[in-house]
Amino acid sequence: MSANHIGFIMDGNGRWATAHGLSRAEGYAYGLMALRRVAKRCEEKGVKAVSVYAFSTENIARPTDEIDAIFDVVRKFNLTYDGKFRICYMGDFSTLPDKLADSIESVEQRTQDNEGMILNIAFNYGGRADILHAAKIAYDHGEFVEDTFEKHLGSSRLPALDMIVRTGGEMRLSNFMLYEAAYAELFFLDKLWPDMTEEDVDSLLAGFEKRTRKYGK
Ligand code: FPP
Repeated sequence: MSANHIGFIMDGNGRWATAHGLSRAEGYAYGLMALRRVAKRCEEKGVKAVSVYAFSTENIARPTDEIDAIFDVVRKFNLTYDGKFRICYMGDFSTLPDKLADSIESVEQRTQDNEGMILNIAFNYGGRADILHAAKIAYDHGEFVEDTFEKHLGSSRLPALDMIVRTGGEMRLSNFMLYEAAYAELFFLDKLWPDMTEEDVDSLLAGFEKRTRKYGK
């Protein structure tokens, strides 16, 4: 069975930068280059959607210069992206700086008719908050069954999540796609995110094909 939708927790950018004598801001710029490589390879291998954890609701507690660096990388990406992916975002944009929120809206609009893979960017995102948000809407509509509940999650327009990959050596989900993770196959790599290559994607997909998915049966 091949994977339709992969989630990546792109951990290790800061450590990679330090190890290379670079600033954390440069680490995120290299992280974006790795994301381009990884996403392109996923598309070549037939993956339909990739979701990435670019900024969690908890990341807002980081030093201001680091937050500014991530915001800057993401805004520039949004304003300059001219590839074939359909870019979409999930998260709470209401507290983001206007320029960043506008750039999110603009890249989503510009790429909505693209026919390439979906690149879904979790930004100012938290899995628990996403579930609570969906629960509130479902409650208001009186529709508490799985099918209708799921359509209010940030991932509602995406295929079911098949795999979650976390780089950087930690083995936890850190509030990423908690509802969608229910039957996802988990992969943890020691490698730092900016070091990810096309070959890593190939071996992850080969590893996925070897797993037996039972869905509790
Ligand atoms: C965690 O690694 C990663 C982040 C907080 C953000 C990652 C963001 C990018 C790579 C930019 C992606 C760009 C777009 C357009 C989606 P960390 O830096 O906390 O790693 P550390 O544990 O080594 O400090």
